[in-house]
Formats: sequence, C-alpha cells, structure tokens
Amino acid sequence: MTLTAYTGKILPIWAAELVMRGRLVAGNWKSNGDLASNQRLLEDVRAAARDLRGVECAVCVPYPYLFQSQQILAGAAVVWGGQDVSQFGSGAFTGAVTAAMLLEFGCRYVIVGHSERRSIFGESDAVVAAKFDVAIKAGLTPILCVGETLREREEGVTETVVGRQLDAVIGKTGVAALVKAVIAYEPVWAIGTGRTAMPEQAQAVHAYVRSAVAAHDAVVADGLRILYGGSVKAANAAQLFTMRDIDGGLIGGASLVADEFMAICRAAGRGQ
Ligand code: PGA
Repeated sequence: MTLTAYTGKILPIWAAELVMRGRLVAGNWKSNGDLASNQRLLEDVRAAARDLRGVECAVCVPYPYLFQSQQILAGAAVVWGGQDVSQFGSGAFTGAVTAAMLLEFGCRYVIVGHSERRSIFGESDAVVAAKFDVAIKAGLTPILCVGETLREREEGVTETVVGRQLDAVIGKTGVAALVKAVIAYEPVWAIGTGRTAMPEQAQAVHAYVRSAVAAHDAVVADGLRILYGGSVKAANAAQLFTMRDIDGGLIGGASLVADEFMAICRAAGRGQ
C-alpha cells in the first residue's frame, strides 16, 4: 500500500513535507527513578529543551511516574511516553496497562518490543506485533525496537533477525502503519554495555531496515524515522548522527543524567 492509498488522497506538492524525516531523541528510563530525583531531572530537561532546534525530545518513564511527568512537562518542548503497553484493552488482565491509560496521561510515544521485554519477559514477535497494532490504533506512536544478540551478529544473521522482527509487525498491521511509527535499531550487545556500534555498523543495519520497508513502500520508507540505541552518550552521539539513515537515538543510561541527555539531543539537532 502506498502513502497515497493510506491517506486516501492524491498527495499535493506540499505533502512532500509529510515524508521529511524529523529527528527524535527519546530517553528510556527503564526501571529507574524516584519522585525526588525525577523532579530534578524533568525540570532540568524541560529548561534545557527550550533551546533545542531541529530535534524532538521525549522521555519514556515508568508508569507510576507518568502523572509526575505530565505535571512537569505539560506545555514544555518535551513529550513523554510509556515503555510498554498491553496488547489487550481494559478488563481482567492483572498488571497490564492499556493504551487508553497511557493516552489519559498525555503520552505521545510508547516503546514496543524492547529487547529486555523480549528476552526477560518472553515477548514473542507476535506479542510485540499485537502491542504495536494496539498502540497505532489508539493513536500512540510506537517506537518499535529491533536488534540482534551478539551471537546472532557473530553468526552473520543480523539482517535475518531484524527482518523477521520487522516482518512480524508489517504482516500484522500493513506497511502503511509505519507512517505513524518510529523504529529503533538496538543491537542487544550494545545495550547498557558501554559497547556502542561503530557508526558505520549501525548505518548498515539502518540502511537495511529502510530498504526492507522500501520493498513494501518506498514513500513510507523515506519518511520513516529510525533511531539508534545502545550505549549512546554525549561523547559518541554526534558521530552516530552524521550517518545518513540514523534519525536520532533511543537513550537508556545517559537519559538519567540531564546534561548528558540534552547534549545528545543537541547533537541530533545539529546533525539535521
Ligand atoms: P543504553 O540503553 O543507552 O543504556 O545502552 C538503550 C536502551 O536500552 O534503550
């Protein structure tokens, strides 16, 4: 399906803007934080975000802190989101948080299929695709994480793995849903290890992701934001963001330190 088919209209010239890729840097706090330290972090991020240009800044926080994030960030140049979403609606699903609940707390984004969800919580490609589908239908923007383990990289099956993770989602929702989504390429061996992918290594997989989507729809692929994640820091961000198919970052550890996180955001804005 083409973007034209998706929107149901012939695209006018100005709609080329629709497929211009904006930069995005999203923080993934994981299971970190407490009310007092969050308050300082959110206030510092809010203040520094006023001067950001050419990049959208987001923080994905633990569920109990969504209300606090909403209180502090409302009206600021920072948006926020969740780190996971239930594949179900409301009902008898103990412990699950629905897309409607995330929306009620002002979330724009939700991370889906993070490697920690896949490996520690046993989420299959099918579950991740169901969560992605629910997020899209609710009007949230899913940040779909894909990436290979060290073993898979060493076996030379990175593209097979990433392609399979992507296909599960495209098979469920159709490629046009990616117009309203973000992909994050996060090699599992680079997450929280201090071992970042070399910019060229990351670029190669980003280019593969874009080409895999382009095989379905070139316009959707062109407009798709593909973030890199895995030990991004202020010191290595600028280099990563010079790569042609890297449109920003998904930041774990460094998103817990306001100065580091905002330096990464600024680097993404400059790389625009
Ligand atoms: P890291 O985490 O930046 O701490 O490596 C990235 C992520 O898991 O999203």
